[in-house]
Amino acid sequence: MRALVIYESMFGNTGKVASAVADGVADGADVTLLNVVDAPVQIPGDVGLLVVGGPTHAFSMSRISTGRSAARRGGAYTDLPEGVREWLDGLKSAPSDCAFAAFDTRVDMPLLPGAASHAASRRARKLGFTVLEPASFLVKGYEGPLVSGQLERARDWGHGLTEQLAG
Ligand SMILES: Cc1cc2nc3c(=O)[nH]c(=O)nc-3n(C[C@H](O)[C@H](O)[C@H](O)COP(=O)(O)O)c2cc1C
Repeated sequence: MRALVIYESMFGNTGKVASAVADGVADGADVTLLNVVDAPVQIPGDVGLLVVGGPTHAFSMSRISTGRSAARRGGAYTDLPEGVREWLDGLKSAPSDCAFAAFDTRVDMPLLPGAASHAASRRARKLGFTVLEPASFLVKGYEGPLVSGQLERARDWGHGLTEQLAG
């Protein structure tokens, strides 16, 4: 099976999680890891698993305004109109038999509502993907670093996705 892991990251934390997720997915699939700015505008028909990850901004996926706000804090936002929100908005439909799983990073504050992965999952469902359970990975503060143990969790989560599809 072919899998794509597509991510967006301002301070690098989601990028690290994406890489760990891709490592886990690689246990059961031929995986390609791509920054969203390099992601294809259409999902190739032979892709059986699409994994999409981004930082939680203002309780949801990033927007151009929140990306600029991240840049003011030192994040690597390039002003390209291409976060995962805009990229998902540009997809016309899901290939047949393609599963979708979203992840996000968010600050380690249990009472803070909202997660980018939930918003991305809703969008994917509308596009016709078979949507698997999303996951959130925790960072300390806006810039990170990741809370200890998150990369191991991310690898396990990625591994579990291909197991679900195989079983
Ligand atoms: C403008 C802005 C808004 C944010 N809003 C939220 C939020 O609503 N909930 C949350 O948990 N984290 C929020 N965060 C923290 C981000 O989730 C955190 O910066 C991100 O997970 C780090 O990932 P990255 O290093 O890949 O950019 C926000 C960060 C920024 C810059």
